[in-house]
This record gives sequence, structure tokens and C-alpha cells, in this order.
Amino acid sequence: MEKMKVGFVGLGIMGKPMAGHILRAGFPLTVYNRTRAKADDLGREGAVVADSPAEVGAKSDVTITMVSDTPDVDQVIAGPAGILEGVRPGSVVVDMSTVSPELERRLDGKLREKGCSLLDAPVSGGDVGARNATLAIMAGGDRGAFDRVLPIFQVMGKTITYCGPVGSGQLTKLCNQILVSVNLLAVSEALVFARKNGLDPLTMIQAVSGGAAASWQLLNLGPKIAKRDFQPGFMVDLMQKDLRLILETATANPTPLPAAALVQQLFKSVQIKGLGREGTQALAKALEALSGI
Ligand SMILES: NC(=O)c1ccc[n+]([C@@H]2O[C@H](COP(=O)([O-])OP(=O)(O)OC[C@H]3O[C@@H](n4cnc5c(N)ncnc54)[C@H](OP(=O)(O)O)[C@@H]3O)[C@@H](O)[C@H]2O)c1
Repeated sequence: MEKMKVGFVGLGIMGKPMAGHILRAGFPLTVYNRTRAKADDLGREGAVVADSPAEVGAKSDVTITMVSDTPDVDQVIAGPAGILEGVRPGSVVVDMSTVSPELERRLDGKLREKGCSLLDAPVSGGDVGARNATLAIMAGGDRGAFDRVLPIFQVMGKTITYCGPVGSGQLTKLCNQILVSVNLLAVSEALVFARKNGLDPLTMIQAVSGGAAASWQLLNLGPKIAKRDFQPGFMVDLMQKDLRLILETATANPTPLPAAALVQQLFKSVQIKGLGREGTQALAKALEALSGI
């Protein structure tokens, strides 16, 4: 059977390795990135580098977007020279960014007018998951479209879940972000406590990792905090975007989320210090400041 033609818009920390897996799995690939130089490596590997998202849409059966925030997804899909201008009837657009569920429903409506549909399929697993093709992918939208796109998801991820109608992927991802951010607060607090009491942080992490306290945040970000490595896998500014989406959704459908609200306030203090482009492990710096470290 002929392989589906795939398009990819947004080759940042996540998008570039994800697109690379698709190309190496043998799918004909067309890519677009706003800053064109970031598409050069994939171009050398055999991807077609397009001049606009519309051109990507026109050349693809499945067009994936992986950009930053809600207005960015709106722009690359429905803005000038956006994917909507190029899409062919019967094709599927898959947004894998983390953005507003409401936007995904609106874009799905616009795509349906063109005989296409949208899957919202955000991911978890960080830059490590993107590089190792072990992402968790949580998808919402038309079930038939999901089944068609599944072979492409399978080259990028390991845990792939159909969550329900369009918007369900984003809502599931917001649950994921409540879990991730509150857990990171616990990791940061434990590390400050360890330092204050003269423990070696790496030994503490190793000792508790085999027990009930083990978690992705502890195993991946704990050692970075201990080694003072604040390079971003996932930036503070992007986590704040997700916490904003969580709290907006919890306002629209009243749900008290005291722990998520607390983490959002602590991250705000990190941003005020000008550290918004550091990795989320910089949350530890907010707690260190409270402890006078
Ligand atoms: N990093 C993680 O660990 C992680 C994990 C799970 C989910 N996510 C989600 O994945 C998405 C991407 O994150 P990332 O870490 O890959 O971010 P990133 O490295 O900052 O990449 C963002 C990409 O989006 C493009 N972009 C942004 N706004 C655009 C616009 N208006 N028009 C066209 N292109 C635009 C950027 O183009 P330029 O190169 O021109 O700037 C870049 O290619 C976000 O929604 C994030 O929340 C990230």
C-alpha cells in the first residue's frame, strides 16, 4: 500500500525529532518552519521544505502542527497562507501542540466545511520522549480519522490513546499537566529540604527512586536540579501557558484547583526573575529563594 504523504509544521524542540521519526519510517514528508534554517537538517535528509503551511497542506494527506500556543495554532491553520488554504478534501489535520480545547473544536468546524477533519493529539514525555519516540499521545476527534493516522502516531509514540470527540485530547493533556506540575513542586520541595539538612541530593534521589516516590519528574528533572542544569526540555513560559489553560477551563466549568493555582503563582515568580525560557526544573529556584538558599 502506498504510504500516506505527511506534512509537518513547527520544527522546535519537539517538532523536529518527531518529524525526523516520520521521515525515517519512510513516509514522504513536507515540512515548514517559520525560521527556515531549522528545517535545513530535515531537508538534507530528504524532506521537502515548503514556503508556507498552505503548501504543506496542499502536499499532504495528513498535516501535523507542533507550534507554541493557541494563537499560533490558529495562525498556521486558519491564518493567511495557513493550512486551510491548501488542504485537500479527505485529508486530516492533526494538532499535537498543547492549546485550548475550544480552539480545536472551532478549527474542526472550519476543516469540515472543506471535507477534512481535525484531530487534537497533544503529547507527554518531554524532549526525551520526542527524541526516543516514546511519547504518550492523547487524541480526540473522529474515530475513523484516528484509525487512519495511527500508523504515523506509532512512529512517534508508545502509549497512544483515543480519548473521545475533538477537544478530548487537550482536556486529557491538561489533566497530565496538573499531575506533572504539582509533582514537580513536590520534587523541588524535597530537594530544598535535602539541601537544608545536609544530604547529598543525588544520593537522596537514588535512594527514594526505587520506592513509592519514583516519578518521571523526579528521575528526569531531580538530577538536573541537583547538578544546576536549567537548560529547557520544557520551558517555564510554556508550562505557564498550560497552567493558564487549566485555570481558564476550571473557571469556565467551576473546579477548585488549589495545588495547580499555587504552582502557577510560584512559576510567576520564576518568570519575574527573567527565567521564563529556562526549563521547568527552575521551579526549584522559587523554593530555594523562600528558604534563603
Ligand atoms: N518541550 C516539551 O517538553 C513539550 C512536551 C509536551 C508538549 N509540548 C508542547 O509542544 C508545543 C511545542 O513545544 P516546543 O517545546 O517544541 O516549543 P519550541 O521549541 O519553542 O518550538 C515552537 C515551534 O513553533 C513555531 N511557532 C511558534 N509560533 C508560531 C507561529 N505563530 N507561526 C509559525 N510557527 C510558529 C516555532 O517556530 P520558530 O522556529 O520560527 O520560532 C517553533 O518551530 C507546545 O504547545 C508545548 O506546550 C512541549
